[in-house]
Amino acid sequence: MGRYAADIEQAATHIRLEALCKTYPGAPEQALANINLNIQRGEIFGIIGRSGAGKSSLLRTLNRLEQPSGGRVLIDGVDIGDYDEDLLVELRRRVGMIFQHFNLMSAKTVRENVALPLKVAGWRPGEIERRVDQLLDLVGLAEKRDVYPAQLSGGQKQRVGIARALVHDPEILLCDEATSALDPESTQAILALLRDINRRLGLTIVLITHEMEVIHEICQRVVVLERGRVVEEGPVWRVFGDPRHEVTRTLLGTRQHDLPEDLIGRIRQKPNGEHSALLLDLHFTGASLREPDLSAIARTLGTGTRLLHGGIDRIQGRAQGHLLLSVDSREPEAAIIERARELADKVGGLGYVAAAR
Ligand SMILES: Nc1ncnc2c1ncn2[C@@H]1O[C@H](COP(=O)(O)OP(=O)(O)OP(=O)(O)O)[C@@H](O)[C@H]1O
Ligand SMILES: [Mg+2]
Repeated sequence: MGRYAADIEQAATHIRLEALCKTYPGAPEQALANINLNIQRGEIFGIIGRSGAGKSSLLRTLNRLEQPSGGRVLIDGVDIGDYDEDLLVELRRRVGMIFQHFNLMSAKTVRENVALPLKVAGWRPGEIERRVDQLLDLVGLAEKRDVYPAQLSGGQKQRVGIARALVHDPEILLCDEATSALDPESTQAILALLRDINRRLGLTIVLITHEMEVIHEICQRVVVLERGRVVEEGPVWRVFGDPRHEVTRTLLGTRQHDLPEDLIGRIRQKPNGEHSALLLDLHFTGASLREPDLSAIARTLGTGTRLLHGGIDRIQGRAQGHLLLSVDSREPEAAIIERARELADKVGGLGYVAAAR
């Protein structure tokens, strides 16, 4: 990398983790083991992984709710491990956080919940009122300002959580399973709000979720953790379109287009008799920005080609997915695959089935 490119990368990096490790007292295994990661300014960055993989531990080192056992966390190039108590208080104002179960005070109204951190910080009542009103407008809860949390829906409670996390105008927002307790409609509304905040306020958002749809919807990049280690990392279109690690494939399981049962039972490894069709998998990973083109498929593979199964999604403007075709041709498999290469990013033969008549 040239010096100029390195400088640009430096400037865009907001949060940098260097050889970050965490071992909890008495725990046999490291919760975080040598994590190296760069999170860019203004991006929405996702963290996924199985339960116990270390996601929350990682997130909580970013505002030093968790103290690393080794390595460094740099925000804007400054090691937050060196911060004293005063700087920690300031850090936690620069880094807001929202939670799965909202963490609201049930005996306080919406307005009082949002006002609390400002009161603690010693703001004057008039200033507090102005700031709280401004935030409740931002999250769309202006009319609910005097009700108690018990009178709110889950989505509304999370809006209060978001307003409270933004009181000090943070530059980073951490979200630990922020939509996991919500129904699909409220999830969509909260994601739209997070996207809006990200754009309007230029906030860097780091979020953990077990819902792959959430990553798909709003993240630009994603990291996959397994047993405290990074096993895969990249732009969402790349990781989702062409997952390389087994854990990623398992996490994405429901999004993959597996072969339907009835088809599996009919597959043979060799063409049998005079009339078999090759099962061909066209995989669109998104890497080439290629679009599935049905007329090109028919032209290249012949009119005896049938679409058996599959689906195409769009992520970050790229078409991704699998199309499973049966190709009725007497040519050798290698020759068919060679011709099909211009149709998709990856092409593979899956065996043979009886040809349609
Ligand atoms: N306070 C703690 N004391 C001891 N061990 C802990 C503590 N917090 C987490 N751990 C352990 O560290 C590992 C990582 O936990 P962490 O909470 O970061 O996982 P996670 O990926 O967030 O899981 P989940 O998806 O279930 O929330 C787990 O093995 C967990 O048992
Ligand atoms: Mg967790």
